Amino acid sequence: MKKIKTLQCIRCGKDHKLDETKYNCTACGGNLQVLYDYNLIKKRMNFEELSENQDRSIWRYLDILPVSSLKDTPPVQVGWTPLYRAEKMGDEIGVPNLYVKDDGRNPSASFKDRASAVVTARAIELEEKVVTCASTGNAASSLACMTGSLDMKTVIFVPETAPAPKVAQLLVYGAAVIMVKGTYDDAFELCLKASQEYGWYNRSTGINPFTREGKKTCAFEICEQLDWETPDKVFVPVGDGNIISGIWKGFVEFHRLGFIDRLPQLVAVQAEKSDAVKRAFETGGDIQPVSGQTVADSISVSLPRDGLAAVMAVRDSKGFALSVTDNEILSAIPAIARGSNVFAEPAAAATYAGLLKAVREEKVKENESVVLLVTGNGLKDVQSAMKSVGKPIVIKPELAELKKVVADNKLV
Ligand SMILES: Cc1ncc(COP(=O)(O)O)c(C=O)c1O
Ligand SMILES: [Zn+2]
Repeated sequence: MKKIKTLQCIRCGKDHKLDETKYNCTACGGNLQVLYDYNLIKKRMNFEELSENQDRSIWRYLDILPVSSLKDTPPVQVGWTPLYRAEKMGDEIGVPNLYVKDDGRNPSASFKDRASAVVTARAIELEEKVVTCASTGNAASSLACMTGSLDMKTVIFVPETAPAPKVAQLLVYGAAVIMVKGTYDDAFELCLKASQEYGWYNRSTGINPFTREGKKTCAFEICEQLDWETPDKVFVPVGDGNIISGIWKGFVEFHRLGFIDRLPQLVAVQAEKSDAVKRAFETGGDIQPVSGQTVADSISVSLPRDGLAAVMAVRDSKGFALSVTDNEILSAIPAIARGSNVFAEPAAAATYAGLLKAVREEKVKENESVVLLVTGNGLKDVQSAMKSVGKPIVIKPELAELKKVVADNKLV
């Protein structure tokens, strides 16, 4: 692929040719990033080309994605999700320029479709017969969604605790689902062994350099949807750290190509007991494992697999990291729904809890524009959502009973 210049190790800087490795650095095992021939891309991608491009999906950015042709892309619409101006919610907390990027609107209802679409396209180009992935749930369900109708087996490793709706998605799309008695980290290691043993193509985060490529498209969309104005801050929920490093790469690339003239600050939001990236960012040390326990299953990670890249993204963007409690995450679910009409799963709702905390700590100025990434739909985990709201009213089908309820609850 002429447009790709190198797969460069983010740890030691070693360059690799595209066909030299499918996964990590051959020298130090670090994660790789895809670097392009940006002069070549500049000739193809410009304001005029994008404004005339009718493709409302991630593939409008094909020129800067590691995929040769549109014929190899999965047959569902990924990306170009809405960016809402959340006026009511913003006014309430003194951040009037608040936006919500609703990535729960993707085909499998999470942001992860961006990565899975790119990796699946790559798998088609490589003529892979079996793809595999370890996941807290969303990466897997999105991979199963992308490969659902394709002639490609999909073997998924998830922790036993994965929420039922995500497991249902996997089974419905026909994946072989292996539930591991253990954590996401245990599932990850087993998936890695399986991919080495059987030669299956591994989509797991931190292994496959192309996941970040799919994820960066969300930043491209934000730039276009804000009419090329860079937001001041973007709040991103962080588990493995691949979303935030992908988002950063997207902004950096659009800056390099001249589409935007400044870069945003990224705010990494983690759950209190799953905060390895925050710790490493604040101490300046290596990523150290933490317990990883949180109600927000998608960001429940002991040892972040793209932690170094995540820390670099926060640092290079001059942003910051913060953690929120499970109670704050749960209360954020109805708050986002009532403030911006978007139903978020716990991990995604963490961004709003993070924003509230940042406002309390005076880390966000009133005139700043802020984007919250809502990375997964609330229907992914209704059990958690139900913990954050009251109970429905149950009555007999009689008008007298209804009248009492209406009066008691001041419904008229
Ligand atoms: C809904 C949702 N939000 C946030 C994340 C965190 O992304 P990352 O693990 O790349 O930091 C995930 C990952 O599974 C997710 O599914
Ligand atoms: Zn290396």
